[in-house]
Amino acid sequence: MTDPLSALRPWEAPEVTSWGRLPMNAVDRRSGALPLDGDWRFQLLPAPDAPVGGAWSSSYVPGVWTMQSAGADDLPQYTNVRMPYTEFPPQSPAANPTGVYEREMDVPDDWAGRRIVLQVGAAESVLLVHVDGRPVGISKDSHLAAEFDLTDVVRPGERSVVRLTVVKWSDASHIEDQDQWWHGGITRSVLLYATDPLYLADVTVRAAYDGDLRVDCRVRDTRGALPEGWYVSGDLDGRLLAQDTEFDRVNAEDDRVSDFLGEARVHATIPDVRTWNAETPELYDLTVRLHRPDGTVADISRHRVGFRDVEIVGRDLLVNGERVYIRGVNRHDFHPLTGRTVSYDDMRADLVLLKRFGFNAIRTSHYPNDPALYDLADELGLYVVDEADIESHDHAHEIADDPRYLNAFVDRVSRMVLRDKNHPSVIIWSLGNESDYGANHDAAAGWVRRHDPTRPLQYEGAAKRGWADPDVASDIACPMYAPIVDCVAHALSGEQTKPLIQCEYSHAMGNSNGTLADHWAAIESTPGLQGGFIWEFWDHGILQRVSDGRPAGRAGAGLYDNGVAAPGHRWAYGGDFGEPLHDGAFIADGVVFPDRTAKPVLYEHRELAAPVRIRCYQHEGIVLANHQHFRGLDWLAARWELSLADGRVLTGPAELPDLRPGETAAVPLPFTLPEDGGEAWLTLRVTTAEDEAWAPRGTEVCAPQVRLRAAAVTEPGPAAPGRTVRVDDDGLLVHPLLTAAPVLSLWRAPTDNDELGGIARRWRTWGLDTLVRKVVSVRHEGETVTVLAEYAGTAGVVRHRQEFTPVEGGVRVTESAELPPEFDDVARVGSVFETVPGLDLLEWFGQGPWESYPDRSTGAPVGHYALPVDELFTPYLRPQESGGRHGVRRFRLSASDATGIAVELDEPRQVSVTRYRAEDLTAAAHHDELVPRQGCVVHLDAAHRGLGTASCGPDTAPSYLVPAGVHRWSWTLRAL
Ligand code: GAL
Ligand code: MG
Repeated sequence: MTDPLSALRPWEAPEVTSWGRLPMNAVDRRSGALPLDGDWRFQLLPAPDAPVGGAWSSSYVPGVWTMQSAGADDLPQYTNVRMPYTEFPPQSPAANPTGVYEREMDVPDDWAGRRIVLQVGAAESVLLVHVDGRPVGISKDSHLAAEFDLTDVVRPGERSVVRLTVVKWSDASHIEDQDQWWHGGITRSVLLYATDPLYLADVTVRAAYDGDLRVDCRVRDTRGALPEGWYVSGDLDGRLLAQDTEFDRVNAEDDRVSDFLGEARVHATIPDVRTWNAETPELYDLTVRLHRPDGTVADISRHRVGFRDVEIVGRDLLVNGERVYIRGVNRHDFHPLTGRTVSYDDMRADLVLLKRFGFNAIRTSHYPNDPALYDLADELGLYVVDEADIESHDHAHEIADDPRYLNAFVDRVSRMVLRDKNHPSVIIWSLGNESDYGANHDAAAGWVRRHDPTRPLQYEGAAKRGWADPDVASDIACPMYAPIVDCVAHALSGEQTKPLIQCEYSHAMGNSNGTLADHWAAIESTPGLQGGFIWEFWDHGILQRVSDGRPAGRAGAGLYDNGVAAPGHRWAYGGDFGEPLHDGAFIADGVVFPDRTAKPVLYEHRELAAPVRIRCYQHEGIVLANHQHFRGLDWLAARWELSLADGRVLTGPAELPDLRPGETAAVPLPFTLPEDGGEAWLTLRVTTAEDEAWAPRGTEVCAPQVRLRAAAVTEPGPAAPGRTVRVDDDGLLVHPLLTAAPVLSLWRAPTDNDELGGIARRWRTWGLDTLVRKVVSVRHEGETVTVLAEYAGTAGVVRHRQEFTPVEGGVRVTESAELPPEFDDVARVGSVFETVPGLDLLEWFGQGPWESYPDRSTGAPVGHYALPVDELFTPYLRPQESGGRHGVRRFRLSASDATGIAVELDEPRQVSVTRYRAEDLTAAAHHDELVPRQGCVVHLDAAHRGLGTASCGPDTAPSYLVPAGVHRWSWTLRAL
């Protein structure tokens, strides 16, 4: 007999968004529920209409079968824009993996007489529910829960069999075409709960900045009419708010109508309310009780309430009347072992990390996240742009106006709003991502605007029609990857009507996020610009066993450290599971590694978001500024640190002035600047003074820095008489500690930005990766040896001059390179050499301690640093240029017996010391393929190209390019 649910073929019927599903609501039923997580019987069918009847294996719920052995050969697949199959919407392919999950559930006997509900946290992409063989319901939307009333299906005290059939490909897949791995399974918890027949069907909390609190309750009774005399009450932090006498029968002319509607409101004004914002996320505990006519409690709903306002005034987005900067990131639900299932602890760790690095906002790209994420955002203080699960990227144009999908658009947006409306953290609704713009969007926007007038709405696809267009479904101009100049021009045009907050900017793929500081300089100096969301939080690398190519799954726990997979494992990206169609490493574009290890860009971001800044140094004092919106500086402690070029570092406690947000104060230097010591830098090490919810006391929050004294200009010293420099016939320096003499380098292992931005292609056309060196002359003049060489590429020749002069203890190298006009944008101009093995410690005076580049160096203060060479390298998933340090003045590279080399540079330069040649990095596709060399590969660059973000978005700014023409640099090499 055909199953009635399958007979509908709901996987190819976009009009069918659900059947038998209860309305979405904001009542949390997790506590007191019967959890149904754990191992379920499982079989994977080749298609949804294939018969069930094969052998059962088992699968862990919540989880995706694509990451578990039960999934056999249906492995993760990564595509960005394109669908993984050619069928047009609403069709799905004939080969359509379908997971059948089954388990028993013992319905408690004390649930007799109660209303019983099954909740499936999330299933992708179509869920069919049967209980004891009876069809119960259908649901779509892979990122929202579905509830089904089982009161008449199960019997308390008895055992029932629940079967969840999950169809992987469907009409819904065409509107879930987000840039991420494709999986199949049940990704969030399943539970069974019971309520009284008289129950709270929904609770809507509106808590305003002025203390006004409205709690609207929707009450239902499964027996039909509501009993005469029911009422609701609420208490806030234990203080009773209102009781029966005060409740207000909304929309009702007489009591009968109100009872019939089942609507009630608790209304109160809280005096001296502590308000909520991302800096001080004050929450109150609200308990709503539904009473039977005799006063006994039938149902309870608990909420954490934050009093705050959000509004747009002119072109400013205001939170509690303040024009807040949005320092956001896009976050997917991702985990390297489970794919899509994330635990509460994982989400907490994500958000804690974001707070520590100065973020104050998340866009839930590109679907409603796990409900716990919003609880955590409320608690830790993060603004949320809550985004509906709609992305039809590959077929955007067809779907946006397709009436068959109208219902799905409204369903997805409205259910998100109904679920998340009570979270103070949610300040903006988003209609979805990259789905063109059509009538289906306007329909969904209409629903939101009527239902929740308290929050702005955004949609990039609509904003694209015109940033200032009042008629499109976006209250915010929210472009993606708009160049800084375009944003500034818009803000200055006089045409701007909406806040400009980029929904995606600064693409974090590989070694990236160049010009982040330039973005923020523009934002903070241009009224109308308010921030944006970095793309994105995660590198979605899946932990994979190299031996059999399968996901390590939950067994991989702990098999990674510091961003690197354990031996025998790697971080898989697109193509690594043998998918013929994929989009490669484009899935690895986050500010954290797959194990949440911070990439260097996070330190850059932290500094740009610093709550305390040093404005300038003048008259023996500095000007400090409070850059927060709501908080004083009393939650911070500080120490000053003075770094002198001569190697001295002096520190002491620093007193932070009492500054309100936006205020500045002149503060005298807490020490006398020593007369000698050369170049001098003052760093303020700012830490949390007490425990914060997201950082224990003493956590560094920022380290603003100011230069107190510039380096004196020094003339190069005279040649050391009587000493010689050895240069061979090929014009190469001979030095006992170098295994490869310094030669010219114009190439770097292309970053993802270099590759996808087409920049590396130009370098290859010019032959910069295969330059052929030819020595032209070697001239001895006194103690000085001058070498002229030519480096021939396919498109031109570079003339390189090196002058070697013996100096006390070593050699001074003075170089110049003349790039022909054809080479007008190269990776670097500088020297590269290699050292003997054993020089494993780098000490330097310059920017650090983490990796920095010319257009990503604001977060790396000047100081004296020391790190093992092996820790200098950043293990980006796809090997590329990495490990650079900007602004290096001098460094020593030493062995454990203190032998080694010291290099002094004529001016602060980009330096890198790694175990890899540029060609080693270029040849490897994954980090685990790299074989470290014994010695060090040292680059000193006269000029190094900025990183930009051209893998998706603008390239670096012109000022960070390395142009053609003559470049000069000099350095001194000494043995220790
Ligand atoms: C955007 C898109 C994101 C992601 C990003 C590139 O266009 O909204 O989902 O694909 O580009 O990584
Ligand atoms: Mg996309």
